[in-house]
Amino acid sequence: MENLNGKQRDNWGSRLGFVMAAAGSAVGLGNIWRFPYTTGENGGSAFIIIYLVFVFVIGLSVMTAELAVGRRTQLAAVGAFKKYSNRWTFAGVLGVISAFFIMGFYPVVGGWAMAYVVKTFTGLLSNASAVGDSFGAFISAPIEPLFWFILFLLANVVIVIKGISGGIEKAGKILMPTLFVLFIFLAIRSVTLEGAGAGLEFLFKPDFSKVTGETFLAALGQAFFSLSLGMGCMITYGSYLSKKENLPQNALIVTTLDTAVAILAGIAIFPALFAFNMEPAAGPGLVFVVVPTIFAQMGALGYLFSAVFFVALTVAALTSSVSLLEVVVSYLIDQKNMERKPAVILTVVIMGIFGIFASLSMGVLGDVKILGVIFFDFLDILTDKIFLAIGGMLLAIFVGWVVKKEDLQDELTNSGTVKFGLFNVWYNLVKYVIPFAVAIIAVAGIISITE
Ligand code: PFF
Repeated sequence: MENLNGKQRDNWGSRLGFVMAAAGSAVGLGNIWRFPYTTGENGGSAFIIIYLVFVFVIGLSVMTAELAVGRRTQLAAVGAFKKYSNRWTFAGVLGVISAFFIMGFYPVVGGWAMAYVVKTFTGLLSNASAVGDSFGAFISAPIEPLFWFILFLLANVVIVIKGISGGIEKAGKILMPTLFVLFIFLAIRSVTLEGAGAGLEFLFKPDFSKVTGETFLAALGQAFFSLSLGMGCMITYGSYLSKKENLPQNALIVTTLDTAVAILAGIAIFPALFAFNMEPAAGPGLVFVVVPTIFAQMGALGYLFSAVFFVALTVAALTSSVSLLEVVVSYLIDQKNMERKPAVILTVVIMGIFGIFASLSMGVLGDVKILGVIFFDFLDILTDKIFLAIGGMLLAIFVGWVVKKEDLQDELTNSGTVKFGLFNVWYNLVKYVIPFAVAIIAVAGIISITE
């Protein structure tokens, strides 16, 4: 298919291929690493309820909007904004910058996950009480995490150089269902442990006394991050989507799958955590410290569970990081007329430099602070709490006020051939409600953080 630059454009090979790749982008470290620890830090169920409301009201609407803009223009983020108005190019560029920043720390954690597959068999589980210390020693050492980080980044290069239907789609199709099955298995194991009830209560019995402005911002940032929104990723993926597909339905499927995996990850982790009397607010180390500690207390079966868990985490991270990389690569292809291969190599080299600093900031560069936090946390907070929210808000304003309503209706109903009964509800949400809601949550959250 030709896009508006008159260039031949790669397409998803099939319906399932797109859903799997988009769900692969959405389901990642955000669901398995970040969602559980953010839930733990924000008091459990009340946070989850706010999160779910944001996902299905704001997230689903923004995802529908991103897919519509991408497919309408057949262009990746920057080109799509620019096509409507040169004044909006900055919104697309902001997305490309966000992708760079997220890829500055995301593959570092992906590398940890890869390392833990191997570590499962090299003594990680032999002493439950040493798991925390060994994690601290591992991430702060200069060389070992860098080795895994580079290996993880190279896996991205191999997938993205192959292009859309050859690489990303094939990987997603095999890896996503595997991941889902793995988590169902882990969740069942967790809830059948003695003492698991307290964990389920923590997850599902709301306690609103812990809710502050920061909780709302954390839930909003988590929703955007987890659904891969606010930085043009779904615009880019939508641009590769066939004109025959039903966009609102695809958005609903991807949003539901992503949420299901996050909740499953919660059910896999918290009941086991409470069963073993551990701390829910353990922070970013939660997955890497608490989970292996739990497995270390399960005997031989623990080895199997641990290997399965970290393979799943690596796979989930990989199918997300390729989408982040693709945002930048498709920008270079569409806007800078680069070939795919040099675009991938250039992008990865720059991301690699960011990542080296992020990884070293866990140890030898730990004293170098930007606005009071280490480089890794700086990239994380900047993107999750600020850039994605601004990106999502800009996209809603753009779709609500710049793109013609008739164009949107045409795109979302495939020129009237499929039904989208909630079109007006969606349109008014995007035009009037979401820009203000996001702005209010962001401002209230930032005030609450600085208090
Ligand atoms: N959604 C991914 C996750 O939950 O891990 C992270 C991510 C991917 C964020 C792609 C943004 C993005 F564009």
